[in-house]
Amino acid sequence: MKEINVGLLGFGTVGSGVVRIFHRNCALIEKRLGATLKLAKIVDLDIERDRGVAVDSAILTTDAAQVVDNPDIDIVIELIGGYEPARELVLRALRNGKPVVTANKALLALHGEEIYTEAAANDVDILFEAAVGGGIPVITSIKENLSANKFSSALGILNGTCNYILTRMTDEGEEFADMLKEAQEKGFAEADPAFDVDGIDAAHKLAILISLCFGTKIDFEDIYIEGISHLSSVDISFAGQFGYKIKLLAIGKITGGAVEARVHPTMIPIAHPLADVDGVFNAVRLKGDFVGPVILTGKGAGMDATASAVVGDVISSARDLLAGSKMRTSPLGYRTEALEKLPVKAITDLWGPYYLRFLIVDRPGVLGRISTILGNHDISISSMIQMSRSFKDAAPVVLTTHEALEANIRSALYEIDLLEEVCHPSLFIRIENEME
Ligand code: HSE
Repeated sequence: MKEINVGLLGFGTVGSGVVRIFHRNCALIEKRLGATLKLAKIVDLDIERDRGVAVDSAILTTDAAQVVDNPDIDIVIELIGGYEPARELVLRALRNGKPVVTANKALLALHGEEIYTEAAANDVDILFEAAVGGGIPVITSIKENLSANKFSSALGILNGTCNYILTRMTDEGEEFADMLKEAQEKGFAEADPAFDVDGIDAAHKLAILISLCFGTKIDFEDIYIEGISHLSSVDISFAGQFGYKIKLLAIGKITGGAVEARVHPTMIPIAHPLADVDGVFNAVRLKGDFVGPVILTGKGAGMDATASAVVGDVISSARDLLAGSKMRTSPLGYRTEALEKLPVKAITDLWGPYYLRFLIVDRPGVLGRISTILGNHDISISSMIQMSRSFKDAAPVVLTTHEALEANIRSALYEIDLLEEVCHPSLFIRIENEME
């Protein structure tokens, strides 16, 4: 049987998962592919550490050239992560005519254009299913199965660490810092956990999704990003009383010819299809003009689920090689020259309902002053809860609004925070009521 030689760059958690699949499902893959996938080289700076998987020491090397410049290597897997040397090695492998499979969302979100252009110039695959949603086949679904559709939105729970933390805060009333520590111990978190909790990792994945869904180039800096570290269990409990759950959502939409590209904590109705996506699970809800809403869910992080997507891409690429075509589908599923550059909507132009929280000294007239300021900014209250005084004379007041302009919400909160009865900066959370 024909052998296809695979070179792996990066022998960390996901790399070890890849090796496990090569070992355990080798015969099954042969039956499906009609060829043998052979892990011919593994490159890492540390080739001594025991990863708990058996590997022939002869294939281990610290020299990346033995993969990217080696004529015997047919397909390269990049699992180094980060920008350099991953970027340089991926470009070199593509220039050498080798298809590349990567899970590196940060690299693609910031340097995607350069990498896709190099792949197209050399007519080779660059596949990245594992970069968004771990084991969930979202990228191939958009590029292949759903490619008859014009998409109007892509909504995702795209960071397993944040979803794990928010789930534990919701279910157990735990606080943020303790849950972050727990998620890190479980091995989902990025090397720098700020990437997770500040929403950056989800934004990297959103940048990729937006290009795939809407055929537009997007500058990473144009994505509005807000993390979860300012949320407290109090907000989660109030959200529940209003009939909502809080999720870190990555939202891509086309409205009025512009792209909405934003990552932030979002209140969604308890009956929303994404509300029960808990723990390390991720989900993406796509809306196409012919197919309608489609929800894909599964494990969004972790060794095995991510390795499953990586090896799936290796098998696809091997099929292309066997069919004599190194690039059957363009990287983003669009002809490169057909990609547009649509305008990105400013977050202050967002129109929707909001949750507001104030911590106020409970004096006669203070609620009236707050509602007057809201009214002056065209903000109408939908429902309100005032708690009994809990700290000195202070009491939290929380409310939800009807649809309002975010610029007005921000100006109103600025004015409200100047009132002498307001003893803590007020907070707002966007609400997404649309269920379909
Ligand atoms: N740190 C990421 C997460 C890993 O928590 O989802 C998968 O990209």
